[in-house]
Parts: sequence; C-alpha cells; structure tokens
Amino acid sequence: MRHVYSGKVRDVYELESFDPPRLLMVASDRVSAFDVVMAEKVAGKGQILTAMSCWFMDLTSDIVPNHLVEALPTPAGVGEPIAPDFVGRSVVTRRAQMVELECIVRGHLAGSAFKEYVAQGTVHGHPLPSGLQLASPLPEPIFCPSIKNAVGHDENISVERAREMFGAELVDRLAQTSLAVFARGSEAAAKAGIVLADTKFEFGHLEGELLLCDEVLTPDSSRFWEADALEPGREPVQFDKQPLRDYLESTGWDKTPPPPALPGEVLDTLAARYRSVYERITGMPFEDWLARAEAAASTGAASFGD
Ligand SMILES: Nc1ncnc2c1ncn2[C@@H]1O[C@H](COP(=O)(O)OP(=O)(O)O)[C@@H](O)[C@H]1O
Ligand SMILES: [Mg+2]
Repeated sequence: MRHVYSGKVRDVYELESFDPPRLLMVASDRVSAFDVVMAEKVAGKGQILTAMSCWFMDLTSDIVPNHLVEALPTPAGVGEPIAPDFVGRSVVTRRAQMVELECIVRGHLAGSAFKEYVAQGTVHGHPLPSGLQLASPLPEPIFCPSIKNAVGHDENISVERAREMFGAELVDRLAQTSLAVFARGSEAAAKAGIVLADTKFEFGHLEGELLLCDEVLTPDSSRFWEADALEPGREPVQFDKQPLRDYLESTGWDKTPPPPALPGEVLDTLAARYRSVYERITGMPFEDWLARAEAAASTGAASFGD
C-alpha cells in the first residue's frame, strides 16, 4: 500500500492492487485541540472512532450508499496481510471524488453557530428566533454548509452561497441527505439518553453516484451531550474532548505548538468518554468490536506469503 495522506487523526493509504484503487483509512489514537495535535495519544480512540463510524454507516445505508468496502478489513480486501497496529482502526473504502463542502447539521446551538447567533441573530446566515441560549434546541435541525478558506480554516457559508458555488441541485441533495442521516443518528442517540447536538458529513462522487464518505457521527465529527444534564444557558456535559480543552485552558497555553504535556488523568478521562458514548449508543461492548476485527484480519491470513 502507498501512503497518500495524513490528517490530524487519520492516515490514508492507497491499495494499488485494486482497479479502481481502494483506500485504507487508518484512525490513529492522536488527539488534537485548537487545531494542534497533542504529543500524547488517547489509548483506543482510533478504534472507537472506527467502530462508531461503521455502526452509523450501517444504520444509515438505506438512506444513502457509503464508501465502505470492508468495515472489518480482511487480508483479501486489503490485498496484503493486515499489520497488527491497524486492526480495529482501519476500513477499506472506495476512493471518491470528494465534494469540497463540509455538510454540517445543527440541532442545538453550540460552537461557532452560537457565536454567530449572539453577534447577529443568525446561523450560517439563516435567521433564528430571538431568546435562544447556548445549547438550546433549534426549532428544527438546519443544514449549515461550510468550506475551507484560503488559510485552511473552516468558514460557515449560507445555503444560497453554497448553491452558487456547487450548484443548486447538488446542494439540495446534500442538504436532504444530511438532514435524514442526522435524524436517524439523533434517534439512535436519544434512545441512549444522549443528544446529538451537531455533526459534520463529507460526501463524494463515484461513477455518477453520491456516496457518504469520511467518518460518520463520531465524537470527533459531532457533539454528543448527556441528555439528563442538558440545560440551555449552561455548558453541556460533552462526550468529547472538552476535558482536554478545559485542561489546556487552565494551563494558560497560547494555542501554538508545542502543546503542554498532558497528565495521564486527562488522557484516561478522554478514553473513558469515547468508549462510553460508543457503548451506550450501540449497546455493544467495545471488546466485541476488537474481537470481530481480529477475526476478520486473520481470515485466510495463512495463505499469504506461503
Ligand atoms: N471515500 C473517500 N475517498 C477519498 N477521500 C476521502 C474519502 N473519505 C474521506 N476522504 C478524505 O480523507 C481524509 C481523511 O483524513 P482526516 O484525518 O480526516 O484529515 P483532515 O485532518 O484533513 O480532516 C480527508 O481529507 C477526507 O476528505
Ligand atoms: Mg477529517
């Protein structure tokens, strides 16, 4: 396999023995905050993200086809034996032509959307009723496209602007699909007492088909909140990197590399939160995923190299 890309969290390889080429996307245990990757790793994070994304892709495959070829890679699907380091944290996908539009759906007010609302009463240019607070539910979930600007930072844009840039037909389809996947995800989370506040999807084209790509409904691409503790106006209890952000803020770090060293306690808290959101929503122990991944990775492995 040929290494083609490393992002903040994932490493992407092209599997050259397939035509058309497939990708192997490997989620590492790296963790970033304020756009800076930390020196330490969160044990098991990449495997949990992978397990959760695959579970949601399966749950939503009747709404939109996705890029997965193998959620649990086998040596035959990869074209070579699977390195032990990759087990449970990699997927084999079809390579798509990515649509350079981040498809965000927001059901509750948080992050940059909350800041925009406070400043001008809109979210991605979409007017909202007055009186909403941090974490308030929106009257209904809204599609909030965003693009990477020249500096590489995400920039919220209006749906009208997205339609001008990408064509009305495509944007309307992305909006409809994103809202439908979001609704399915919210429903699954709600059953576990968890609120899906917002999330980001990425889509791609392959042979005229629109595919749901990248990662789907993971704590890295979404905000998941404890439903019981939710109170508009107060900082929600999140299942993501909030403990990391809080720790970093407490050190007075200026958010430029190198980041401060992280205490083991903060790393353990993060690992436990990622694991608990996965187990609560899917209702399955994380160990089951690891066992299935091990089994798939060893399928027919003996036939390689002999
Ligand atoms: N099916 C696919 N085909 C091609 N590219 C994809 C596919 N799914 C995801 N990608 C791209 O692969 C990369 C995944 O790496 P990631 O660690 O998320 O990087 P980043 O830090 O740039 O978000 C992203 O650039 C994403 O757009
Ligand atoms: Mg990404």
